[in-house]
Amino acid sequence: MQFLIILSDMIFKQLFDDKSSTYTYILASDKGREALIIDPVIEHTNKYLNVLDELDLKLVKVIDTHIHADHVTGLNELSKKTNCTKIMGEKSKSEVVDLHVKEDDKIKIDNIELKVIYTPGHTDCSYSYLMNDRVFTGDTLLINGTGRTDFQNGSSKDQYDSLFNKLLKLPENTIVLPAHDYNGKTSSTIGSELKNNPRLQVDSVDQYIEIMNNLNLANPKMMDIAVPANVKGLTSDQL
Ligand code: FE2
Repeated sequence: MQFLIILSDMIFKQLFDDKSSTYTYILASDKGREALIIDPVIEHTNKYLNVLDELDLKLVKVIDTHIHADHVTGLNELSKKTNCTKIMGEKSKSEVVDLHVKEDDKIKIDNIELKVIYTPGHTDCSYSYLMNDRVFTGDTLLINGTGRTDFQNGSSKDQYDSLFNKLLKLPENTIVLPAHDYNGKTSSTIGSELKNNPRLQVDSVDQYIEIMNNLNLANPKMMDIAVPANVKGLTSDQL
């Protein structure tokens, strides 16, 4: 499944991994220009390279919103193939990141600028990225949900703060682009999540913690492979 939107001044492409229900985003200002990828999945490396090739884009930066537990990142494979800069937040435990970013830093390619928002909770290395009218929320804010907080130094208290004091303070028409969706939804808005997301209909941090403590979810199937591979920055020949 792919969605391609060419806005007047930029290329925005959302790709989906069926196995882990991960969304990957390709951004560029126009054909023939620099590109940036957010949350790539290693198995789709060639697909991304084909898209870049078709649009005559040069991949210069690749970002993971956090250390993923449900798939092996394509960050390192893409960097090996294109020499692009691997970017994660400063709290990331990845051993191979080229550039660590922190709250309020700006990541630029051509005339596109992403502002870094530190949004811990799902993991302690979870970051969101704001680009004008849209925000890439990783697993912090999902559509009608929020990322689980029960492993990788997750904290439902921190997540409440990331949600209610950061992401949900963005303008209500800000487009929400999560790292996953399990129900076929591709985007939402801050206003819609405030109104409809069942996890956000709480009156206090304690109420939120109570909800998150009682999810009783099984660990992701890939967790024991994905987390160490993503920390070490393995490429496909090392898996
Ligand atoms: Fe995650």
